[in-house]
Amino acid sequence: MSLPFRIGYGEDAHRLAAGLPLVLGGVPVPQAEAGAVAHSDGDAVLHAVADALLSGLALGDIGQYFPDTSEQWKGLDSRLIVQRALELVRGRGYAPVNVALVVTLDKPKLGPLRAEIAASVAQLLDLPGSEVGVSFKTSEGLAPAHVQTRVTVLLGRTEE
Ligand code: C5P
Ligand code: MG
Repeated sequence: MSLPFRIGYGEDAHRLAAGLPLVLGGVPVPQAEAGAVAHSDGDAVLHAVADALLSGLALGDIGQYFPDTSEQWKGLDSRLIVQRALELVRGRGYAPVNVALVVTLDKPKLGPLRAEIAASVAQLLDLPGSEVGVSFKTSEGLAPAHVQTRVTVLLGRTEE
Protein backbone atom coordinates (compact mmCIF):
# COMPACT_ATOMS: atom_id res chain seq x y z
CA MET A 1 0.00 0.00 0.00
CA SER A 2 1.41 3.38 -0.98
CA LEU A 3 0.14 6.18 1.27
CA PRO A 4 0.43 9.79 0.07
CA PHE A 5 2.55 10.74 3.12
CA ARG A 6 6.09 9.98 4.25
CA ILE A 7 7.78 10.78 7.57
CA GLY A 8 11.31 12.19 7.63
CA TYR A 9 13.59 12.51 10.65
CA GLY A 10 16.95 14.26 11.06
CA GLU A 11 19.40 15.13 13.81
CA ASP A 12 22.48 17.28 14.12
CA ALA A 13 24.90 18.30 16.84
CA HIS A 14 27.78 20.73 17.05
CA ARG A 15 30.35 21.51 19.67
CA LEU A 16 30.23 25.11 20.89
CA ALA A 17 33.28 27.33 21.33
CA ALA A 18 33.65 30.92 22.54
CA GLY A 19 34.03 33.64 19.95
CA LEU A 20 32.16 31.85 17.15
CA PRO A 21 28.74 32.92 15.81
CA LEU A 22 25.68 30.80 16.58
CA VAL A 23 23.06 30.54 13.82
CA LEU A 24 19.92 28.42 14.23
CA GLY A 25 17.41 27.97 11.43
CA GLY A 26 19.08 30.80 9.51
CA VAL A 27 18.62 33.18 12.48
CA PRO A 28 21.68 34.62 14.26
CA VAL A 29 21.51 34.24 18.06
CA PRO A 30 22.88 37.57 19.27
CA GLN A 31 23.13 36.67 22.99
CA ALA A 32 25.19 33.51 22.37
CA GLU A 33 28.52 33.45 24.20
CA ALA A 34 29.64 30.48 22.09
CA GLY A 35 28.99 29.32 18.54
CA ALA A 36 29.19 26.12 16.51
CA VAL A 37 32.51 24.58 15.54
CA ALA A 38 31.82 23.46 11.97
CA HIS A 39 33.05 23.07 8.42
CA SER A 40 29.99 24.95 7.13
CA ASP A 41 28.20 27.78 8.98
CA GLY A 42 27.28 25.17 11.64
CA ASP A 43 23.52 25.76 11.57
CA ALA A 44 22.41 22.64 13.45
CA VAL A 45 18.72 23.33 12.78
CA LEU A 46 19.10 23.56 9.01
CA HIS A 47 21.38 20.52 8.86
CA ALA A 48 18.77 18.45 10.69
CA VAL A 49 15.97 19.88 8.51
CA ALA A 50 17.86 18.88 5.36
CA ASP A 51 18.51 15.36 6.71
CA ALA A 52 14.84 15.03 7.67
CA LEU A 53 13.78 15.96 4.13
CA LEU A 54 16.19 13.47 2.59
CA SER A 55 15.38 10.65 5.01
CA GLY A 56 11.66 10.83 4.28
CA LEU A 57 12.36 9.54 0.78
CA ALA A 58 15.39 7.42 1.70
CA LEU A 59 17.68 9.77 -0.23
CA GLY A 60 20.61 9.40 2.16
CA ASP A 61 22.01 12.34 4.16
CA ILE A 62 23.61 15.72 3.54
CA GLY A 63 27.15 14.38 3.88
CA GLN A 64 26.68 12.58 0.58
CA TYR A 65 25.78 15.79 -1.21
CA PHE A 66 28.02 18.23 0.73
CA PRO A 67 31.05 16.27 2.08
CA ASP A 68 32.61 18.05 5.08
CA THR A 69 36.05 17.06 3.77
CA SER A 70 35.60 19.19 0.66
CA GLU A 71 37.18 22.70 0.63
CA GLN A 72 34.37 23.67 -1.74
CA TRP A 73 31.82 23.60 1.11
CA LYS A 74 33.88 25.43 3.74
CA GLY A 75 31.78 28.15 5.45
CA LEU A 76 28.79 27.06 3.34
CA ASP A 77 25.48 28.89 3.93
CA SER A 78 23.30 26.04 5.20
CA ARG A 79 20.26 27.49 3.48
CA LEU A 80 21.79 26.14 0.26
CA ILE A 81 21.86 22.65 1.82
CA VAL A 82 18.15 22.86 2.62
CA GLN A 83 17.37 24.20 -0.85
CA ARG A 84 19.20 21.25 -2.44
CA ALA A 85 17.38 18.73 -0.23
CA LEU A 86 14.05 20.40 -1.07
CA GLU A 87 14.80 20.19 -4.80
CA LEU A 88 15.46 16.46 -4.45
CA VAL A 89 12.20 15.95 -2.53
CA ARG A 90 10.22 17.94 -5.08
CA GLY A 91 11.91 16.00 -7.88
CA ARG A 92 10.37 12.85 -6.36
CA GLY A 93 6.90 14.42 -6.38
CA TYR A 94 6.69 15.34 -2.67
CA ALA A 95 6.60 18.56 -0.64
CA PRO A 96 6.86 19.30 3.11
CA VAL A 97 3.51 19.53 4.93
CA ASN A 98 4.65 20.39 8.45
CA VAL A 99 7.81 20.35 10.53
CA ALA A 100 8.45 19.76 14.24
CA LEU A 101 11.87 20.67 15.56
CA VAL A 102 13.56 20.59 18.96
CA VAL A 103 16.75 22.46 19.83
CA THR A 104 18.65 21.38 22.93
CA LEU A 105 20.90 24.19 24.16
CA ASP A 106 21.70 25.26 27.71
CA LYS A 107 22.38 28.96 27.04
CA PRO A 108 21.06 31.42 26.03
CA LYS A 109 17.29 31.14 26.32
CA LEU A 110 15.90 30.92 22.79
CA GLY A 111 12.22 31.56 23.54
CA PRO A 112 12.38 35.14 22.24
CA LEU A 113 13.59 33.81 18.85
CA ARG A 114 10.92 31.09 18.47
CA ALA A 115 8.73 32.95 15.97
CA GLU A 116 11.71 34.17 13.96
CA ILE A 117 13.22 30.68 13.69
CA ALA A 118 9.84 29.20 12.71
CA ALA A 119 9.33 31.89 10.06
CA SER A 120 12.83 31.45 8.69
CA VAL A 121 12.55 27.65 8.37
CA ALA A 122 9.03 27.99 6.96
CA GLN A 123 10.16 30.47 4.33
CA LEU A 124 12.94 28.13 3.18
CA LEU A 125 10.43 25.28 2.82
CA ASP A 126 7.72 27.47 1.23
CA LEU A 127 5.36 26.81 4.17
CA PRO A 128 3.33 29.14 6.42
CA GLY A 129 5.04 29.81 9.77
CA SER A 130 2.16 27.99 11.48
CA GLU A 131 3.39 24.70 9.96
CA VAL A 132 6.75 24.81 11.74
CA GLY A 133 6.69 23.87 15.44
CA VAL A 134 9.77 24.96 17.39
CA SER A 135 10.62 23.62 20.87
CA PHE A 136 13.61 24.37 23.07
CA LYS A 137 15.16 22.24 25.79
CA THR A 138 18.20 22.55 28.01
CA SER A 139 20.47 19.55 28.55
CA GLU A 140 20.14 20.25 32.30
CA GLY A 141 23.88 20.91 32.34
CA LEU A 142 24.79 17.52 30.87
CA ALA A 143 26.15 19.03 27.63
CA PRO A 144 26.82 22.74 28.19
CA ALA A 145 29.21 23.11 25.21
CA HIS A 146 26.89 21.46 22.76
CA VAL A 147 23.92 22.25 20.53
CA GLN A 148 21.66 19.39 19.44
CA THR A 149 18.71 19.49 17.07
CA ARG A 150 16.07 16.90 16.21
CA VAL A 151 13.57 17.40 13.38
CA THR A 152 10.62 15.50 11.98
CA VAL A 153 8.95 16.46 8.73
CA LEU A 154 5.81 15.17 7.07
CA LEU A 155 6.11 14.94 3.28
CA GLY A 156 2.97 14.88 1.15
CA ARG A 157 2.74 13.60 -2.39
CA THR A 158 2.08 16.38 -4.89
CA GLU A 159 1.68 14.14 -7.96
CA GLU A 160 -0.36 11.02 -8.59
O1 C5P B 1 14.99 21.84 29.31
P1 C5P B 1 13.99 22.47 30.20
O2 C5P B 1 12.71 21.68 30.27
O3 C5P B 1 14.53 22.81 31.53
O4 C5P B 1 13.61 23.86 29.52
C1 C5P B 1 12.64 24.68 30.14
C2 C5P B 1 12.07 25.66 29.13
O5 C5P B 1 13.04 26.66 28.82
C3 C5P B 1 11.69 25.04 27.81
O6 C5P B 1 10.39 24.60 27.83
C4 C5P B 1 11.90 26.17 26.82
O7 C5P B 1 10.71 26.88 26.62
C5 C5P B 1 12.90 27.07 27.49
N1 C5P B 1 14.23 27.07 26.85
C6 C5P B 1 14.61 28.15 26.08
N2 C5P B 1 15.86 28.19 25.54
C7 C5P B 1 16.72 27.18 25.73
C8 C5P B 1 16.34 26.05 26.48
C9 C5P B 1 15.08 26.03 27.05
O8 C5P B 1 13.85 29.09 25.88
N3 C5P B 1 17.95 27.30 25.22
MG1 MG C 1 25.85 20.32 11.32
